[in-house]
Amino acid sequence: MDIEKSRKSVSIQRKVKILSKLLFILVLGVVLTAAVGCAPVTKGPVLLRLSEDRAALMWETKVQGPGKVTYGKGDVLDREVATEPIQVKYGINKEAAFIHKVWLENLQPGRAYSYRVTSPRTPILQWFAKLGRSDEQSKIYKFRTPSADTNEVTFIVYGDSRTRPKVHRRVVEQMLDKKADFVVHSGDLVSSGDHYEQFGPQFFAPVKGLAETVPFHIAKGNHEGNSGNFEKLLIPDGRTNSFGFDYGPVHYFCADNVSRGLTAEEQLRLIAADVGSSDAQWKFVSYHIPSLNLGGHWSAWGHPDALRILSEAGVDFVLTGHSHQYERFRPVAPPVGSSGSYVTYITSGGGGAPLHDVKPSLYHAQAKVINHFCVFNINGSKLTMDTFDINGGTIDHLEVIKTNGQLNKQYLWTAVPMAAAQHHWILARTQPKKLPARPKKDQPFQVTYKLSVPALGEPAKMIFKLRCDEGTYKLPEPKTLTVPKQGGTFNVEFEVVPLTEVKVSKKPIVPALWLECHYEIGRVREHISHPIVAKP
Ligand SMILES: [Fe+2]
Ligand SMILES: [Fe+2]
Repeated sequence: MDIEKSRKSVSIQRKVKILSKLLFILVLGVVLTAAVGCAPVTKGPVLLRLSEDRAALMWETKVQGPGKVTYGKGDVLDREVATEPIQVKYGINKEAAFIHKVWLENLQPGRAYSYRVTSPRTPILQWFAKLGRSDEQSKIYKFRTPSADTNEVTFIVYGDSRTRPKVHRRVVEQMLDKKADFVVHSGDLVSSGDHYEQFGPQFFAPVKGLAETVPFHIAKGNHEGNSGNFEKLLIPDGRTNSFGFDYGPVHYFCADNVSRGLTAEEQLRLIAADVGSSDAQWKFVSYHIPSLNLGGHWSAWGHPDALRILSEAGVDFVLTGHSHQYERFRPVAPPVGSSGSYVTYITSGGGGAPLHDVKPSLYHAQAKVINHFCVFNINGSKLTMDTFDINGGTIDHLEVIKTNGQLNKQYLWTAVPMAAAQHHWILARTQPKKLPARPKKDQPFQVTYKLSVPALGEPAKMIFKLRCDEGTYKLPEPKTLTVPKQGGTFNVEFEVVPLTEVKVSKKPIVPALWLECHYEIGRVREHISHPIVAKP
């Protein structure tokens, strides 16, 4: 009898356990569904292209159906605009997402606005909420349109935030208290933009808390890819991505120099036409791949005409990314006899992506391998820039003043000739010909340096010489060369005799032998050395 009772009791206990587990799963399901319903916005909202009279907004939902934005001046939400979401399907399981993009039109300059986005709820929650709302409202966000007559602006420029979202987030956290009026991102938001699912964790999550209220102006990077995902998400009209905008004393042009279509020359003409037609006091340009870059990808987009065209257009600052480093060049002087501007080039590719090397040179005012972002404050004729690292430390500081369109003399004294900066890049990228075999003791071998220089507008005096540890090679006399201002192709050859056995390991050959290129352009005297390398 007792055994029977105890069996029944165990059986009841088991049933209770199973029932409580089922109940737990049910409650969890309801809670999760509710959680998804409470957060129907899966990306954004992100404010884009804010100007004096309009602003674009985007966000993403997982649920199909139109969304809307209610907005208005101050705290009043008295206007409404509905969205027609674009459906995207991604990943192996062809998951669906819906991108909502709208323009908030007829805004007034220099006014504070509030907005709230409304998105459809999940079908289950809609069923639960039959008596309530079938959509979900976000919290209320605020932004401010630029004032037509303001003389002051603060803005942030950064780039290459892809691949390491935790680092990107730390960079963004440092931006939060900078009171920026807008942010410019010079591209490479994600590791591969052809994979739609990367935009959430690598871009939208890290910029949360900033991009809802501070507009982002984005120049496309090569990592955004060609699938159209970037355009669908972050370009208001979904197509073109070269655009200019004004904010107080600044005119800014963001150019797409990675998409197929325009040649570099056409793109540069587009930039020049836009910037040249602006009468703003300060003119900024951002695009992804730099035109002047010593280190990382060693980019020279638009070479050899880019620097001249940008100077003739009157550009003050060119901020790019692509190479994951920080380098600010000394102002690059316009060619002799030209009335172009002195342009400051900055490669700011430290938004989170794995870092690259930089090769410091006399052309740099600052060069560092570090995660960072740049903050510009312009108050009329005075420009201040501070570059911050991930811990909030300042890694660079610049102050310049512009009077009657001219930068202050103290700054211009630090300028470098355009031709010299370009010549340095060419010499750095041109290596001596690799020796076809290991040189043998007492047997002469040829060192060949083939140099191709485009028209740089200024002649360069050059001396080439070989350098080695004393007594290990019999070296020829140095050779001199004058590169005319219209450029040309030159072949510099030396005959060298090893006085000891030569080994071939990693570069350079051992004992080491170096080709030194000394050059003189304008008042710049500089040299660059290349190791002699042999095939094993
Ligand atoms: Fe990059
Ligand atoms: Fe890039």
